[in-house]
Amino acid sequence: MITEPHVNDYINSLSGDLPPYLDRLEQYALEAHVPIIRKEAQSFLCFLIREYNPSRILEIGTAVGFSAQLMAEASKGTVTTIEKVEMRLKEARKNLKCSPNADRITLIEGDALSVLKELEGPYDFIFLDAAKGQYMNFLKEIMRLLPVGGHLLTDNVLQEGSLAGSKFAVERRDRTIHMRMREYLYTITHSDRLDTVILPVGDGMALSRKI
Ligand SMILES: C[S@@+](CC[C@H](N)C(=O)[O-])C[C@H]1O[C@@H](n2cnc3c(N)ncnc32)[C@H](O)[C@@H]1O
Repeated sequence: MITEPHVNDYINSLSGDLPPYLDRLEQYALEAHVPIIRKEAQSFLCFLIREYNPSRILEIGTAVGFSAQLMAEASKGTVTTIEKVEMRLKEARKNLKCSPNADRITLIEGDALSVLKELEGPYDFIFLDAAKGQYMNFLKEIMRLLPVGGHLLTDNVLQEGSLAGSKFAVERRDRTIHMRMREYLYTITHSDRLDTVILPVGDGMALSRKI
């Protein structure tokens, strides 16, 4: 955790309740070790969606459909979400089919690397929450799909805070992911087409606006 656990607990104790169906899905995900957006990041995501009021949202990384439904609850627009792993898709299909907002959520099955190339924009809010080592590879298509003034929210950018430490302090297998994430963060903070802020919310989030 980036922030002290008791600080997170306190912040979370102040956030509003989820609708019961999302509460149940969150419990399921936690018990089944499905990685979904953290509690403290959920409030931030919903706040942004309410504030920006996007008409077309794109999510890269559905898992079981928790954040897709959360975003649909917070917005009046549509949510398109991409997932490639069959085990996750099985649950996502089921959950999204009986979602109260099913008519506004579209699940696209496939690898985002190829799916993104086929999509027609614009998507005025993009939530990037897939394989952390691939973020750089998604960026070109994200920039094509995002209109000027649109927002990109990237999750898990600080990797429990370890990204800010020495590369020798992390396991060898994590060094490549760290290297790629650092390249991604450097790119989005130094691009003249994006205005970006990195926040220690949840596992670290980067909020960018296309300029
Ligand atoms: C952290 S989980 C997403 C959690 C979800 N956004 C939520 O908060 O409820 C990341 C998901 O991205 C999927 N994923 C990773 N790389 C992908 C890719 N290239 N294309 C599509 N899905 C991908 C994984 O299978 C995994 O289910």
